[in-house]
Amino acid sequence: MDMFVVRGGTRLAGRATVGGAKNAALPIMAAALASEGPSVLHGVPNLVDVSTLITLLTSLGMHVSWRDDGALELCVTDEEPSLAGYDLVRRMRAGVCVLGPLLARRGSACVSLPGGCNIGDRPIDLHLKGLKALGADVRVERGYVIAEASRLRGCSLYLGGPFGSTVTGTCNVMAAATLAEGTTTIEAAACEPEVVDLGNYLNAMGARISGLGTPFLEIEGVDRLVGCPYRVIPDRIEAATLMIAAAITGSQIELENVCLAHMTAVVEKLRDIGVTVEQSHGIVRVSSNGPLHTADCIALPYPGIPTDVQAQFMALLSIAEGISIVTDKVFPDRFLHAPELVRLGAGIRREGATAIISGARRLSGASVMASDLRASAALVLAALAADGPSVIRRIYHLDRGYDRLEEKLKQLGADIVRTKDEPSNMPSELVLAADQATDADTHLTGPSWLRQQKKAKLPRG
Ligand code: EPZ
Repeated sequence: MDMFVVRGGTRLAGRATVGGAKNAALPIMAAALASEGPSVLHGVPNLVDVSTLITLLTSLGMHVSWRDDGALELCVTDEEPSLAGYDLVRRMRAGVCVLGPLLARRGSACVSLPGGCNIGDRPIDLHLKGLKALGADVRVERGYVIAEASRLRGCSLYLGGPFGSTVTGTCNVMAAATLAEGTTTIEAAACEPEVVDLGNYLNAMGARISGLGTPFLEIEGVDRLVGCPYRVIPDRIEAATLMIAAAITGSQIELENVCLAHMTAVVEKLRDIGVTVEQSHGIVRVSSNGPLHTADCIALPYPGIPTDVQAQFMALLSIAEGISIVTDKVFPDRFLHAPELVRLGAGIRREGATAIISGARRLSGASVMASDLRASAALVLAALAADGPSVIRRIYHLDRGYDRLEEKLKQLGADIVRTKDEPSNMPSELVLAADQATDADTHLTGPSWLRQQKKAKLPRG
């Protein structure tokens, strides 16, 4: 397994390019199952979830290949398979996005209940409700969703749940409804830019979806969808992560391929905290050189602050002196990063869906463990701001959703190294064996940095 060794305290500078949006690319790739002929997708990020989905789509009769120009070409060559197995779908939530397109085009789908990040309850009842409303016979047996319908029928449907709209649920039901007989209306649809991007791709293939970006979608069913070239939107979560990297290190950086229109709430919150974000000639400049202000940060469905940057904001607010509040109304249990940030010196107390942060000016490097994708990013950010080295383990979570994040940070001047998780690669300051060490002169015990501190405090003479 790999880990990161990050030596904090370095200012960042220079320019990085944001990749295409993972959470748009995945449902778009899955939707190609419902089409005839090839699609060429530009801007698909090369990350582990994309590779996993490519393997899954291949098992479902699709030919998928990366072209020399970095585009991904997809074309269905066999419409027989309808089984999306546990071994692949358990590895990522987006695996469930094949359900709607398979059912609509092939008349049946057998898809394992999905896995994904460890961020709290992740039911798919709304996906199933939507497909049932479209006339499918849907049941869950032995961990699989089995859905059948010779032809789906348009319907009127309310898709809201206890925590608001559902992103992949809207993707599934919208994609399925494009091939249904008649018109479907979806109320309480997700408005996220990634859902809009999927809708635009489906429309480019011949679908008739209106109302994209609003909670009310109208989908007039068509007989077929035909593959086409398409460019995926920039990843607003990666952009936000890099912006916060600049903010937390008191740096100035430039970012290419950012759509600020998708990030209004994030940018406003960063400005409230004291970060400057400007755009000119297509380049976004982010800078921070004064003290950071505390903030009240609430993650909500779009256009609110995304739950996918809640952890990164928490890392940032850990160094804003005073009390900040971070609440997650989308995934109220998404706080596994909090105790790891505490290891780095943050003052965080959780109360239900809220974390209360007593900001300290300085964090100090430590060994920490990533628990999910965005938690990993938050730990990297906090480590960039901490004194001394940090080790971040289980970064396979980060690799699922970021395309070479550490290379982009390195390009901006960060001291971050990917290495094997082995004792010989631990920075000496963090070596556990040192805990047993004794200082020969003074009989002080503990790691070398602690012994030095204790020694300095011993009375002289
Ligand atoms: C998508 O997950 C994203 N994943 C997540 O990104 C993101 O955090 C989330 O949307 C919210 O923006 C992909 O796009 C692949 P939801 P999704 O259905 O679709 C509840 C990342 O880090 N709910 O919008 O699974 C659910 O429990 C990942 O990139 C139901 O109650 O999220 C949650 O509280 C992590 N019933 C809320 O709705 C359902 O049937 C929103 O979930 C479905 C969801």
